[in-house]
Amino acid sequence: MRREALLAHKIILPAMKYAAMVGTIWRKTVKKKDSKSLEESVVAAMDGTDPEIYPYLPYILQDVWEMGASPEVMVRLARRHAPQHRELAVIDLGCGKGAVSVALARMLPCRCLGIDAIDAFIEEARQKALAFGVADRCSFTTGDIREWVERRQVGKGLSRSKVPAATTAPKFDLIVLGAIGPVLGDYFETLTRLSSCLAHDGIILIDDGYIPDGSTFTHPLIQRKNEIDRQIVRAGMKLVDKEVIGTDDMQASNKAIHQPLIRRCRELMEKHPEQHHLFEGYIRKQEEEIDILENRIVCSTMVVKR
Ligand SMILES: C[S@@+](CC[C@H](N)C(=O)[O-])C[C@H]1O[C@@H](n2cnc3c(N)ncnc32)[C@H](O)[C@@H]1O
Repeated sequence: MRREALLAHKIILPAMKYAAMVGTIWRKTVKKKDSKSLEESVVAAMDGTDPEIYPYLPYILQDVWEMGASPEVMVRLARRHAPQHRELAVIDLGCGKGAVSVALARMLPCRCLGIDAIDAFIEEARQKALAFGVADRCSFTTGDIREWVERRQVGKGLSRSKVPAATTAPKFDLIVLGAIGPVLGDYFETLTRLSSCLAHDGIILIDDGYIPDGSTFTHPLIQRKNEIDRQIVRAGMKLVDKEVIGTDDMQASNKAIHQPLIRRCRELMEKHPEQHHLFEGYIRKQEEEIDILENRIVCSTMVVKR
């Protein structure tokens, strides 16, 4: 065998096989991590467990505009920490009905892009932007934010075919994650994934709950404060500010969101008696959630930057 052929046979071919194997393992890992369907991802973010509730969510949430994060707190923190002296490019991932984006566009010089899985939410977000006179600075689109983020990945073997687009795509000054839970993974994964679309002096605003240090409470989707702090640092970022939602504000927000939601679920129980268990289960989950939000965890909006 000639030297080049031997080299190809002994080194290059095994290396290619190894790379293919690593690629397969990598794809399997990513698929496993993101293996929730879009319906499951949305339902988990809306504190449900049964994906069959998915088609009913627009009906159940028809009375609610602010579906999680406090727009006032987001605006306050953005004013304090976002880069100054330029029009901000904002991306609101899991924007729901656009309450945060619309508030930011009303109060700050910025352009917002909101993405959410549910068409009816996106339609309402557009209507709200029109009603508040910011439609020229807010655009909303339906989609899976996990796919959007994956398309924007650079390096680490992620979406290699999309790398040129990702490297030239504009960076965002402000990334909003408003009460979406661990849709993009834990804090380390989320921040690492978002890093490539964050401007060098940009900020990430995260509305989320955490288990305070010293508490014995555990929850599969909620992390301990010290673990979150560790993951932020591991992702090469820092927590620069945080506004904790006080008990009164939390109770008021729960009343505004959960009461109408439970009323609509009861209406659906009457309309669809054959699905009684589905709506009853969702109400039960909401009641558990209220208890967790008010008594077991701390809810805050965090400001994270490099
Ligand atoms: C609790 S709501 C919060 C909405 C909004 N950020 C706010 O604070 O008003 C969570 C939102 O995340 C969206 N969501 C969850 N998983 C998603 C995914 N994979 N892609 C797009 N949107 C998603 C849901 O549709 C829902 O609107």
